[in-house]
This record gives sequence, C-alpha cells and structure tokens, in this order.
Amino acid sequence: MKLPIHLPLLLFLLSSTNVNANTNLTSLVNLFIGTASGANGGSGGNAFPGSAIPHAMAKVGIDVSTAPRQAGYIHDNSSITGISLLHDEGTGGNTDGGYGNFPLFPFVGNCLNSSGVLPNSPECDPGIQARAALRAQGTDVASPGYFSTTFLSGIQIESTSTRRAGLIRFTFPESNATDSNSNYIVVDLTNDLGRSFSGGTISLSVSSQALGHVELGGTFLQSYGPSNYTVFACYDFDSPVLESGTYQSVNTSSPSVFNITLSNTTNIDLSHSLQFPFTSSISPIQAGGLLAFNTSQVLARFGVSMISSDQACTNAEEEVPTNIESEMWDWDVVRAASNSQWEEVLSRVLVDVEKENDTVVELLYSSLYRASLVPANFTGENPYWDSPFPFFDAMFCSWDVFRTVHPLLSLTSPYEWSQIVSAYVDGWRHTGYIPECRANTKPGYVQGGSDGMPILGEFAVKYGAGAEGLGVSVDDLYQALMDTAENTPPNWLTVGRQNTAWKTFNYIPTDWVDPSGSVGLPTREASRAYEYALGDFAVRQAGLALNKSGEDIEKYGNRSMNFVNMWDPNVTSDGFSGFAQRKYQNGTFAFTDPITCSPVDPIVHSCARGDDNDSGFYESSSWEMSFFAPHSVASLVRLMGGNTTFVDRVNNYFSKGYFTAGNEPSFNVPSIYHYAARPDLSALRIRNIVFSDFSTQIGGIPGNDDSAAMASLLTFHLLGLYPVQSTSQFLINSPFLSSYTLTNAFFNTSTTFTVSGFDNATLVASPPAGSRVFVKSVKVNGVDTGSVCVIGFEDVTGGGEVVIEVDGDADAAAMRGCGPNGLPDSLETGGF
Ligand SMILES: *[C@@H]1O[C@H](CO)[C@@H](O)[C@H](O)[C@H]1NC(C)=O
Ligand SMILES: *[C@@H]1O[C@H](CO)[C@@H](O)[C@H](O)[C@H]1NC(C)=O
Ligand SMILES: *[C@@H]1O[C@H](CO)[C@@H](O)[C@H](O)[C@H]1NC(C)=O
Ligand SMILES: *[C@@H]1O[C@H](CO)[C@@H](O)[C@H](O)[C@H]1NC(C)=O
Ligand SMILES: *[C@@H]1O[C@H](CO)[C@@H](O)[C@H](O)[C@H]1NC(C)=O
Ligand SMILES: *[C@@H]1O[C@H](CO)[C@@H](O)[C@H](O)[C@H]1NC(C)=O
Ligand SMILES: *[C@@H]1O[C@H](CO)[C@@H](O)[C@H](O)[C@H]1NC(C)=O
Ligand SMILES: *[C@@H]1O[C@H](CO)[C@@H](O)[C@H](O)[C@H]1NC(C)=O
Ligand SMILES: *[C@@H]1O[C@H](CO)[C@@H](O)[C@H](O)[C@H]1NC(C)=O
Ligand SMILES: *[C@@H]1O[C@H](CO)[C@@H](O)[C@H](O)[C@H]1NC(C)=O
Ligand SMILES: *[C@@H]1O[C@H](CO)[C@@H](O)[C@H](O)[C@H]1NC(C)=O
Ligand SMILES: *[C@@H]1O[C@H](CO)[C@@H](O)[C@H](O)[C@H]1NC(C)=O
Repeated sequence: MKLPIHLPLLLFLLSSTNVNANTNLTSLVNLFIGTASGANGGSGGNAFPGSAIPHAMAKVGIDVSTAPRQAGYIHDNSSITGISLLHDEGTGGNTDGGYGNFPLFPFVGNCLNSSGVLPNSPECDPGIQARAALRAQGTDVASPGYFSTTFLSGIQIESTSTRRAGLIRFTFPESNATDSNSNYIVVDLTNDLGRSFSGGTISLSVSSQALGHVELGGTFLQSYGPSNYTVFACYDFDSPVLESGTYQSVNTSSPSVFNITLSNTTNIDLSHSLQFPFTSSISPIQAGGLLAFNTSQVLARFGVSMISSDQACTNAEEEVPTNIESEMWDWDVVRAASNSQWEEVLSRVLVDVEKENDTVVELLYSSLYRASLVPANFTGENPYWDSPFPFFDAMFCSWDVFRTVHPLLSLTSPYEWSQIVSAYVDGWRHTGYIPECRANTKPGYVQGGSDGMPILGEFAVKYGAGAEGLGVSVDDLYQALMDTAENTPPNWLTVGRQNTAWKTFNYIPTDWVDPSGSVGLPTREASRAYEYALGDFAVRQAGLALNKSGEDIEKYGNRSMNFVNMWDPNVTSDGFSGFAQRKYQNGTFAFTDPITCSPVDPIVHSCARGDDNDSGFYESSSWEMSFFAPHSVASLVRLMGGNTTFVDRVNNYFSKGYFTAGNEPSFNVPSIYHYAARPDLSALRIRNIVFSDFSTQIGGIPGNDDSAAMASLLTFHLLGLYPVQSTSQFLINSPFLSSYTLTNAFFNTSTTFTVSGFDNATLVASPPAGSRVFVKSVKVNGVDTGSVCVIGFEDVTGGGEVVIEVDGDADAAAMRGCGPNGLPDSLETGGF
C-alpha cells in the first residue's frame, strides 16, 4: 500500500505577503554560528555549515584533523583532511564525529612517474596522517546550499547539493600548472570521521574520453550506538585524467607506507579495484583512489546511498542530470534549486527585516535554517526493511528533540513533520517499538524514556483529525504508543522502556533484579520515571485525540501521574523541601544531594550514560528534574509548597547556578514561572538567557546544537512561545520581534502576531525598568483570550491576527498574573 505524500506548494507564500519583496531570506542565515571548537572548554555547538538542502541526506562539508569535530567542521585554523558527503548536525556523543565518509582531497605536486611509483615525499602522501591542508584565513564562505573554502596553497573547494547527490568543484591555482606538476584528487575509501573502517571496496575506471568514475562502499561504526552501518558512493569527474589508480597501505602495521597501482590514459587497462573483507575490529588501513589532472578546474559529481553503489550512481544521475546542451552537470541549477528550497522553508516565519532588530533577525533565520537540516530524509535508502513509508535518519535522539524541534515542525512544517512521524511509526511497525535514537541508520542509545512517545502523542493532538490526508496511519500510531508503553524489550539499551519495573512499582526502583530477564542500563531511575510519566501522558493524549477507549485514557492519565512517587518530601536543599530521589524496591528512598550533577556540583559524579551513574539523574540534577512534569506542573507547585515558595525556588535554581543553558533538561524551567501565575518573571528570565547565552558569533550556541534542539529553542524564545509537549498549548512569552507571520501549508493559513507597544529597549539581557516587556493582553482575531500565559495551537495556526499587548509596569504585571482564565493546564487540576 502506497500512501499519498503531499508536497508543499512551493510558491504558496510569495503571494501572501510582500513584506520582504526585495529581501533574500537565505542571505540572513549565518551558518557559522555554533562552529567554534569545543576543545578546552569552548562552546562547541557542533553546528554543520556545509552545503545541504532541507532535511538532506547529503550534507557536504570539509573535515578538520583534530577532535572534537562532531560535525566535521570547526571554524578555526585547524587543518583539513578532505571534503566528505554525509554529516550530522550539532550532536554530542563521540568527539571524533559521525559520518564524514569517502572524502575527496585535492593537492598539487610532482608525484607520479610512468612506473607508477609515488616518490617518498610528504606532499604526495595520500594517507590521512600526512595529508592536511591549512585554510587561508577568512576564506570559508557558506550560505544555504553552498560552501567554499580556500587552502593556503591556493586550491579552492566549493560544494552544492541535492537530497542524495551533489557537486564538488576544485579550482587549482593556474600558477601550479607546470610541466612536472599535476593537480591531484584523492578519493579516500577508509577514513570516516571516526576512523572506523571495517571493510569495503573501491573500484575506479576511466571512460574512453578519459573521464574518471569511482564507486565505493564501506562499513563504519555508528557515532552514538553499538552498531556499524554500510554506506556507498559514486563519483564522476568532468576533466580528462592523466593518470589514475589506487593506493593502499602495504600492511596494517605500516598504514602510511603505500603500494600504488596507476595507469596513464595510453594504458588500456584503466580499471582498478581494491577489496577489504569485513573485519570486526577497526582497520587502520589507508586505501583509496588517486586521479591526476592538468585542468585548473575539476568538477566532481557524487551520489550517496545506503543500498548499493549502483543506487548511489543512479541517485547522482537522477538528481544532478547532465545538461543536454552543455553535456555537463549544471552547477548553477543545483545551487539555485537548493537556495530556493531554503527560501521557501525560511519564509514560513516571515518578518519585516528592515524594521526588526538585525541581531534578532540573524538569530531567527540562522536558527530556522538549522532546525530544518535534520532529521535527514533517507527515504528510499532504508537497507533494513521494504516499506512504502518514509525513512529518516538522525532522529538523534528523541530525548534531545521532543521538547522543541518537533513542536516547531508542528507550527510551520506539517508535511515534513508528518513524514518524520510516519517514519517513527514505521520503525515500530518493523521492530515493535518507537525508535528512540536513530543514528547512522541504526538504533543509538536510549538516554531516559522512550521520547518518541511525546512526539507521536503531540502529532495525534495537533494533526490527528487530518492525519490520513498527511499519510500517517493514526491506528498504527496509537498501537505504536500502546506497545511502547506496555511491552519491555529483552534489552532496553537502544529501544523501549523498562516497563516491567514501571508497571510493577509505579516508579523505577533502584537495585531491582528484573525477574523477566529483560536487561538494559538500570541507572537514571528518577529521570526515567519523569520521562516515562510524560510518555504515558502522550498515550492518554493520543487516546483522547483519536477517540480511543475511555478506559485507556484514564489508565494512562493515571500512570502519567506516577512521577510523584519519586518525590521524597524529607530532602532539603538551600532551605527548600521535597526533591525527586531514587527509591528502593522496599519503598525507602536512596539519598542523592539535589545539587549532584548540577553545574556547581563540587564532587565529580558520573551523570551521563555510564553504568557508574549512581545519582538517579541523567545529565541533570534533582534540583532540575524536580521541575520536569510538563503535563502537570500544578502538582509540582503543590509539592513544593505553593506559588510563593515555587517562585522562590525557581529563582534559587537560577541564582545558585543549577541552570545549564546548553542542555535539554533545563529547557522548560525559564518559562515555569507561568504556573505560579508569574509570566512577568519568565519574560525577564528569557531575555536574560537569550542575550547571555546565545549570539551570532561562532561561539553563539551554549552547548551542542543537538540536532537543532538549541536552534528550535531559540526560535521559540524569539517568537515568545514555549511548547507544552504532547499538548496543543504554548506558553506565551514576550516576543523579540514587533511582528511576525507564521504560515501553515496544510491548514492553508497565515497567522500574523503583532506586539502592540513593542519596545526595542527590551532587547537586552536586563531590560531597563519601565521598558515594555510584560504581556498585558492577548487578542486572537479581536477577541481577548483572557490569558497572558497560554495560547492554543488552533490559535497559533488558525490564521488571522494575534495581537500581544505589552507594557512596562512590573508591579501591575505581577498583580495581573496570567489573567482571569489564565493558568496553563495541568492534569492534576483538571486540565487537558
Ligand atoms: C539569495 O542569496 C543567495 C546567497 O546568499 C544567492 O546565491 C541567491 O542567488 C540569492 N537569490 C536571489 C533571488 O537574490
Ligand atoms: C592556530 O591558532 C592557535 C591559537 O589561536 C595557535 O596557538 C596555533 O599556533 C595556530 N596554528 C596554526 C597552524 O596557525
Ligand atoms: C601553487 O600555487 C600557489 C599559489 O601561487 C603556491 O603558493 C604553491 O606553492 C604552488 N604549489 C605548488 C606545488 O607549486
Ligand atoms: C605491496 O607491494 C609489495 C612489493 O611489490 C608486495 O610484495 C606486496 O604484496 C604489496 N602489498 C599489497 C597490499 O598489495
Ligand atoms: C604511459 O604508461 C606506459 C606504460 O605504463 C608508458 O610506457 C608511457 O610512457 C606512459 N605515458 C605517459 C605519457 O606517461
Ligand atoms: C556489523 O554489525 C553486525 C551486526 O549488527 C555484525 O554482525 C557484524 O559483524 C558487524 N560488522 C563489523 C565489520 O563490525
Ligand atoms: C523525502 O524524500 C521523498 C522522496 O524523494 C520526498 O517525497 C519527500 O517529500 C521528502 N521529504 C522531506 C521532508 O524532505
Ligand atoms: C519523612 O520523615 C518523617 C519523620 O522522620 C518520617 O516519618 C517519614 O516516613 C519520612 N517520609 C519519607 C517519605 O521518607
Ligand atoms: C530498603 O532497602 C535498602 C537497600 O537495600 C536498605 O538500605 C533499607 O534499609 C531498606 N529499608 C527498609 C525499611 O527495610
Ligand atoms: C497559584 O496561583 C494561582 C493564580 O492565582 C491560583 O489559581 C492557584 O490556586 C495558586 N496555587 C497554589 C498552590 O496556591
Ligand atoms: C531601537 O531602535 C532605535 C531606532 O531604530 C535604534 O537606534 C536602537 O539602536 C534600537 N535599540 C535596540 C536595542 O535594538
Ligand atoms: C539589536 O539588538 C542588539 C542587542 O541588544 C543590539 O546590540 C543592537 O545594537 C541592535 N541593533 C540595532 C540595529 O538596533
């Protein structure tokens, strides 16, 4: 069964507004934000600045020789080992990075002679240890769909790309074209970013017109998970080769001593291949192809595939066809197509760039750009099962992206989001569980809960009614949620949850031997309980949205309140009582100091996925996770002792330094004042965070971008919204823009938000007294909603006008609270 997949109407927007008639939104994107090195305590956003289309599989970029280099690129003076075809965006994990397969590396030299022997000269060494080129300072240039850099040697590399293919252009200095020198390109088989080659093949052939053609396939390790993956590529070159062949290490103990097999174009045997059988240990072997040219410009076309090198070649031919007139590939066509796809994606959030603050505009469009780079559309490239449904990679990890990435997609990218959700459901269809962390096409590690659950629940809430038209089977979606909520896989290390424990105890016990024999990483008990609770809430929400049985709705609603079972009222910290804690199977709590694993923890603890994590918390402290129940924050306000104490406690969390701007468990806290009827404090806090922790500089992301989790968080902050996961509610904050228009192609709506009384003096970390930063009223199409704290998805995407009135009277704002029907919903108080 093939479900229809609707394409967005590309030109839909151009007619809806002429605000930016003369502005090219792609020119506002700064791709270098977040590309500073994470070494020596640097910010390390690990953003990917190379060429790509929205949700591309091919992400073409240069790779540095030094780690950390999660996205391949670092904006410093480090040397470059090549330009490769696949990358991730803003991940943490393995500091060597993921993907980076089959790099090309250009150099100039007098290297080959007629006997095919490579002189023993460093400039001719094709191996990764020797080959390294410094960039000429200031020559890295990037815009959506285009990347360029120039080596100190004068060689320029440029790239532009499609979904699974693209073009890489090398321009060699004219002055290098002497009789003895040639322009060379290395086609590297073995070096991915992780240097994790586990076998593969390369075959190189030359056509009767002396044009080079190279096909490669190799197996490499995942960057965040226990498995390997196999990837293929196909390269064609537009310039006649003088000589070509392969190189390989003489043996594994001398990886940088080479045997070279070369042929010149007068030789009739112009094909070469190398094969390295799969090995279960990583091979240091250096191998690849080498091509020599005498033209000063060489254009390489590539295709990539997870299926076969044949398919990689087909992808290249289909996506970058030969222009009939020029009989060559058309660089300008590829680049313009990429640019216009980005222009359309960016225009879904439209602002008057002349009128708004330039810094805010740059942050907004740069963030929107990154938020549409991933997950990566690998449809047609699923090596594991046959399916008519979309397949996406870099769902990396749901733990990172359920909070803000998917809610942002829900606003302006309904078709893309539907395909991604459909891919999640299809993962369940073929494995029994909702995927959690698909990285390099394989399941990565589970961090806490199964956080695809709130994504699917939110989709049911927002698009359940139209889901069949969007290609998503809601019955399958619901079954995927039920199965992930009920069943426990034999090993919940890479998928699923420890439901045996959750259902037996209504919490996650410490030191419990699971009689079912099911195993996983038994740490992070408190964090997991809070996330499992939200996952169960997602089932309840989907049940309601999809008219499922009342029994189910009640059952999962009740189970979603079980986070309170981790609450130890007797623990105090900084004078505040009641904190989430680990708990034994006999019901006794195990004590963890609530500041453990916070940024100011004086003792070094293991707070991540190591099996020595004995705090009960994952990348977070009890101080922080005790604030995590997005579906029932009123319960937290009650447990913490009421509104006033709650506000004091949130203030204390910030003033004592327990907040980590760059990590996901911190995301919801800045807006949480809303639940104690103090949206004025949320507004001030968010101004402070945006201007203290984010900027347009290379260090402008306060941690890994994490598959654009940070980019989408910043987008929400700038728009003055924060999503309540798995619901249709958004908390309202004070926008950083005087006006913006959101368009939704599925609903066929444009919704214009206007801030009445907008005051640009508030665009600083600490808005001066009296500046108009407080939301005073919210009107949707002329009708006052009665809440300055919350707005529904139906209003945000409903079309028409949302007018947010702001004022500068702090006392009045504190008194006003959320307004007469203002508090955001909580399950405990009858909400949702
Ligand atoms: C928009 O800007 C990009 C570079 O930022 C450029 O390649 C493209 O041609 C521009 N498009 C228009 C219509 O000006
Ligand atoms: C790169 O920059 C660092 C610090 O900015 C400096 O210590 C180092 O010498 C530079 N390296 C090169 C090759 O220029
Ligand atoms: C190539 O030309 C550049 C720029 O003129 C020069 O710096 C470089 O040394 C030359 N390389 C070779 C191998 O001749
Ligand atoms: C490399 O060349 C040497 C000498 O010709 C030969 O003995 C050896 O088998 C070759 N190694 C490989 C891996 O081809
Ligand atoms: C090409 O290779 C053949 C044999 O390998 C050699 O005799 C001939 O001189 C080479 N021609 C050039 C132009 O290098
Ligand atoms: C790749 O992983 C599969 C199982 O996922 C395993 O059977 C195989 O040995 C691995 N191959 C390598 C080269 O590590
Ligand atoms: C993914 O690729 C498929 C096949 O080309 C296409 O139909 C679909 O629209 C793409 N989706 C996204 C979000 O890029
Ligand atoms: C908290 O302390 C009181 C007094 O010591 C004790 O009775 C109660 O059982 C404790 N509660 C928990 C949940 O440990
Ligand atoms: C519960 O179990 C823990 C861990 O085994 C133990 O330290 C504690 O004393 C037990 N509590 C009771 C009340 O038995
Ligand atoms: C907190 O304040 C809100 C709004 O005034 C009120 O509705 C709610 O009952 C208060 N909650 C508590 C626990 O006092
Ligand atoms: C506010 O706008 C004025 C006038 O356009 C400008 O001079 C000022 O720099 C702006 N301030 C901020 C913080 O954007
Ligand atoms: C925009 O806001 C930033 C941050 O407050 C400020 O530094 C900058 O001057 C403002 N730009 C303009 C043009 O007012």
